[in-house]
Amino acid sequence: MNPDKKFYITTPIYYPSDKLHIGHAYCTVATDTMARYKRLTGYDVMFLTGTDEHGQKIEDKAKEAGVSPKEYVDRIVEGPQGVKDLWKLMNISNDRFIRTTDDYHVAAIQKIFKAMYDKGDIYKGKYVGKYCKPCESFWTESQLKDGKCPDCGREVQDAEEEAYFFRLSKYADRIQHLLEDTDFLEPRSRVNEMVNNFIKPGLEDLCVSRTSFKWGIPVDFDPGHVVYVWIDALFNYTTALGFMNDKHNDYDKYWPADVHFIGKEIVRFHSIIWPAMLMSMDMPLPKKVFGHGWLLLDGGKMSKSKGNVVDPYLLAERYGVDALRYFLLREFPFGTDGNFSNEALIGRINTDLANDLGNLVSRTTAMVGKYFGAHLPVTEAADSALDDELLHLAKGLRDVYEEQMEHYAFQNALMEVFKLIGRANKYIDENKPWLLAKDETQKARLAQVLYNLLECVRISAVLLTPFMPDTCEKIFGQIGAGEELRTWDSAGQWGLLPMDAAVNKGENLFPRIDAAKELEELAALEAAAKAAAEPAPEEPKAPEYITIDDFNKVHFVTAKILACEPVKKSKKLLRFTLDCGEGTPRQILSGIHEYYEPEELVGKTVVACTNLAPRKMMGLESNGMLISAVKEEPDGSEKLHLIMLDDKVPAGYGLC
Ligand code: ME8
Ligand code: MG
Repeated sequence: MNPDKKFYITTPIYYPSDKLHIGHAYCTVATDTMARYKRLTGYDVMFLTGTDEHGQKIEDKAKEAGVSPKEYVDRIVEGPQGVKDLWKLMNISNDRFIRTTDDYHVAAIQKIFKAMYDKGDIYKGKYVGKYCKPCESFWTESQLKDGKCPDCGREVQDAEEEAYFFRLSKYADRIQHLLEDTDFLEPRSRVNEMVNNFIKPGLEDLCVSRTSFKWGIPVDFDPGHVVYVWIDALFNYTTALGFMNDKHNDYDKYWPADVHFIGKEIVRFHSIIWPAMLMSMDMPLPKKVFGHGWLLLDGGKMSKSKGNVVDPYLLAERYGVDALRYFLLREFPFGTDGNFSNEALIGRINTDLANDLGNLVSRTTAMVGKYFGAHLPVTEAADSALDDELLHLAKGLRDVYEEQMEHYAFQNALMEVFKLIGRANKYIDENKPWLLAKDETQKARLAQVLYNLLECVRISAVLLTPFMPDTCEKIFGQIGAGEELRTWDSAGQWGLLPMDAAVNKGENLFPRIDAAKELEELAALEAAAKAAAEPAPEEPKAPEYITIDDFNKVHFVTAKILACEPVKKSKKLLRFTLDCGEGTPRQILSGIHEYYEPEELVGKTVVACTNLAPRKMMGLESNGMLISAVKEEPDGSEKLHLIMLDDKVPAGYGLC
């Protein structure tokens, strides 16, 4: 292996907030195929993938599930049908797996954040956003729902919060140059989108710390702040190699990355923010960022929240992992969106894999067996004009394939290979081996025809190996091609398979699928899965009765409001001094300031519960509770009215 031939390729690190779906597998399969291709061509490859485990979303999900955030992500990353499991299923050959909760990564991110701070590229400022008073929580403009608090649906007001900022604006010119004047970002169409939408309107400094939630990497020199999840996430590409840590030590060997494969919605982070931060750290930039398209379902992006996800486990079990891998890279050009459908998947399997590839391999190996036993005789036949086109295609295939692969054009590379496969099937029909077999004088020609087919199969299988590793291994076994005949070099040479290689017709590689029947079964399975995912309807509950003794335990009395004032430093609480007919006034605190001003309440007669255990709030004791009428609106907000009595009702009467 040439020590200068190094190739570092990455996938995005995935959010383990839910089970991954076929859309996630798309990017990882593409990256895996590229990594395998580069290894095949003699590169020392580092293929990194992993999980991006911090942030509010994960914190919320964990809370919902009633476990700690770490327990939550552990289950999705390491557990059954988790991220690692899925990559095993999909035959992903990553060399390394990073979790952003790994200690070495956490410590490295703290150092990186501090380094940018020391340099002056990260500074403390004020983050302007919105504040929901009743919820006492801070929101960004984009988090609001219809301009209102996403939690309670009430009005919000302008507010500020201390935060750290990264001087993204300082790097605007250099980033624009990088995007416009180099081929850093591909496909090219994404460049205009970035420059026009983000750079030309003016790059603003980026808020890179949060205080509104806890589940993140703490800024070690300013407790309370956690590092913005994208800084944490992007630097994974370097910490996984040992940057700013001792866990690994191949940063010098592999950085800069040759290519980051990513989905189109995160191109902004990878082509603007990421290079700017590397510039700030005086680190070399990755050579390329490739933003692929989305796998759509019924025209929309797959997402758990929309319920339109496709389960890779189900598909792999029914059709095999290789069929799925092939379909993903053959059906859609890598740079653009594509619509996933069961029809298209089954169609590809039946035409390309069963009819074309599977048939070529099974016919060829079957004919060798039928006409010659396990080995072709070592003979030489006269050249035939019938061979020219086939041999020409086969001999030139590796180069055209390479040209496509080097441009991440997986679909085109596969089409080139299948041109040869299609041509070889036609070659069988043209040469009619079954007729040659009937003519003793044609034995040498028959052997030659079958040998040519075996060589076409061998060369195709070498080039298909990065896409369908297990299938190609089986093919090599069936045509008797040893390790040395499966190499990149050997794919560029015609005639390497020994004429008398041991051929055996093995199992059928891709059985044909009865499409109509299969689609019906899939539809039924999907409906069942959907039904299982929906929560079971709640059983109507029998009313729970209480006894009159239970009821009498609660002391309600009429109370006159003698005084009312806001509680200092609290946005919600009012402090009431009440005449409950007890001789001495009673103090009760009530969180209703947003509905009433103190002045409007003094002198009113209300209802209080007086035997509730005393409770301290904001340092003041509350001895009971004022009773209100409360209604929850469909949007989650509340309407509240203090129960007020006719002023003729005296204070201190019990209610019954
Ligand atoms: O974005 N079709 O993680 P993620 C194609 N943690 N690709 C899809 C897809 C679909 N239907 N659905 C998802 C993140 N993807 C960050 C990355 S990197 C420093 C941090 C792709 O789990 C998506 O485009 O939301 C992205 O590239 C990848 O899956 C991970 O998405
Ligand atoms: Mg995403």
